[in-house]
Amino acid sequence: MPKAELHVHIEGTLEPGLAFALARRNGISLPYADEAALKAAYAFDSLQSFLDLYYACADVLRTREDFRDLMLAYLERAAADGVIHAEIFFDPQTHTARGIPFRTVLEGLEDGLAEGARRWGIGGRLILCFLRHLSEDECLAALDEAEPFIGRIHGFGLDSSERGHPPSKFARLFARCRALGKPVVAHAGEEGPPAYITEALDILGARRIDHGVRAVDDPAVLARLAREGVALTVCPLSNTRLCVFAEMSEHSLPQLLAAGARVTLNSDDPAYFGGYLNDNIRAVQAAFAFDAATWYRLARNSFEASFVTDAEKAGLI
Ligand code: ADE
Ligand code: ZN
Repeated sequence: MPKAELHVHIEGTLEPGLAFALARRNGISLPYADEAALKAAYAFDSLQSFLDLYYACADVLRTREDFRDLMLAYLERAAADGVIHAEIFFDPQTHTARGIPFRTVLEGLEDGLAEGARRWGIGGRLILCFLRHLSEDECLAALDEAEPFIGRIHGFGLDSSERGHPPSKFARLFARCRALGKPVVAHAGEEGPPAYITEALDILGARRIDHGVRAVDDPAVLARLAREGVALTVCPLSNTRLCVFAEMSEHSLPQLLAAGARVTLNSDDPAYFGGYLNDNIRAVQAAFAFDAATWYRLARNSFEASFVTDAEKAGLI
């Protein structure tokens, strides 16, 4: 079934094989003996335990070609899963902080998108995410750096460590993003409370909520999401790997669907969490045995919640 993927971090698609290949190409040594040792470190007990490794591995990404190869590898896997459109997060601050120019990151990712479209007919757009563990002023400086390239950035997002970094910390930043005429999304209600979902909607003007799985902890927030048709980009394998839910059978997905929320399924950081979009779908089906109508609804939601315009959609599906 054709699908759109709306929540995937390009840095989270860095497979161990590519990480070691890029490390060799760039003359860098990773603090792991080999791919097996790196994979063995993928045992996370929280979002932060994952982020520490995710940021460390991103150090192998140095050149325009590295970012191109990373994008192309993701698009190949996504296309094989029936993804025909992907809205892809990137974290420029992770790279500019290491001295990699914003332009290098952007142009490498764009090279990969262009090549992926040629090879597999897959469409892709870039959503620039700000790192919420940094200060708003640092994020405003990152936006300054991105502004000369604004026509090539589809939207803005907010990611990284959620607890203790509420959306309200970034009110001025996202006001500027909206003034640039760009759609805004935000991670909220992954580990953080439902109040962060409300802040993302009311203070940041988020058009979609990334994760949002903890909305079930506040019936009023859940009812609002359903009433307003706010899309939730849910990432089931991510949530179990990061211990948001102890097991897939405990995931809030059935409650979100039962409440009428506009749920989409996504892979988040597939290289780290045990699979790409179809692996997520298989894990959900093994736990919940949804009927065909539910799967059709989920695929349809992915297109309806995308930032593809109606005119573009007519050509897509
Ligand atoms: N960055 C990459 N993956 C993330 C996630 N699941 N939550 C927050 N920030 C992230
Ligand atoms: Zn995410």
